[in-house]
Amino acid sequence: MKEKNNLIIAIDGYASSGKSTLAKDLARVLNYRYIDTGAMYRGVAFFAEKNNCFAEQGIDEDCLRKILQNIHLSFETVNGKSHLFLNNEDIEPFIRTMEIAGKASEVSAIGFVRKFLVAQQQQIGKNKRVVMDGRDIGTVVFPHADIKFFVEASLEVRTMRRFKELQEKNQKISYEEVEASLRERDLRDTTRAISPLKKAADAILIDNTTMTKEEQLSFSLSVINKKVK
Ligand code: DC
Repeated sequence: MKEKNNLIIAIDGYASSGKSTLAKDLARVLNYRYIDTGAMYRGVAFFAEKNNCFAEQGIDEDCLRKILQNIHLSFETVNGKSHLFLNNEDIEPFIRTMEIAGKASEVSAIGFVRKFLVAQQQQIGKNKRVVMDGRDIGTVVFPHADIKFFVEASLEVRTMRRFKELQEKNQKISYEEVEASLRERDLRDTTRAISPLKKAADAILIDNTTMTKEEQLSFSLSVINKKVK
């Protein structure tokens, strides 16, 4: 039996599926570290944008390669929440837009970007007691994770959740635009050549279309409790 206080919990899933809500809830209950790997791809996209690496004809890979040499990402707790810092600056307020999400999905299809971030994620998780969410955590970053969840929900429910979230942040975007953006991102994330989003064979599927976040948490905890002492 595995020890409950020494696990790696991997959570993968589609955009806006509620995986980060689950990951944060589990980390809080278990007193583990929460690592949002999507934020790291968003951080790279944000820095790439700042350095004009997105050309009209696509991403300038030489530019991207160069900026990775000057990028230092870390997570710090600010007002009880995990924020992404880029070169010691809190960039959390800037990386949660639909635009950065789309650009993160673009940079995440590039092999050397993935290699760069996966190495950091493996380093962060090596001491265990971590809940990490993303697209390839159970398949590539930690293929031997102790517990793996794959989270999904209908496109309609995911669109509504993200739409409401963006409205609360006063971002002017229509329901249809949110839906189109999620659709596009899902397609790119599941069909890219390197580490596409897919359920690991040993991951437990959670379809939370009709679940509350409390139900999702208690289901996951019951799965964990069955596997550990
Ligand atoms: O989880 P998120 O929406 O913040 O992720 C933003 C993008 O980053 C997502 O569309 C795909 C990419 N990503 C990835 O390829 N691998 C991860 N482990 C996490 C995110």
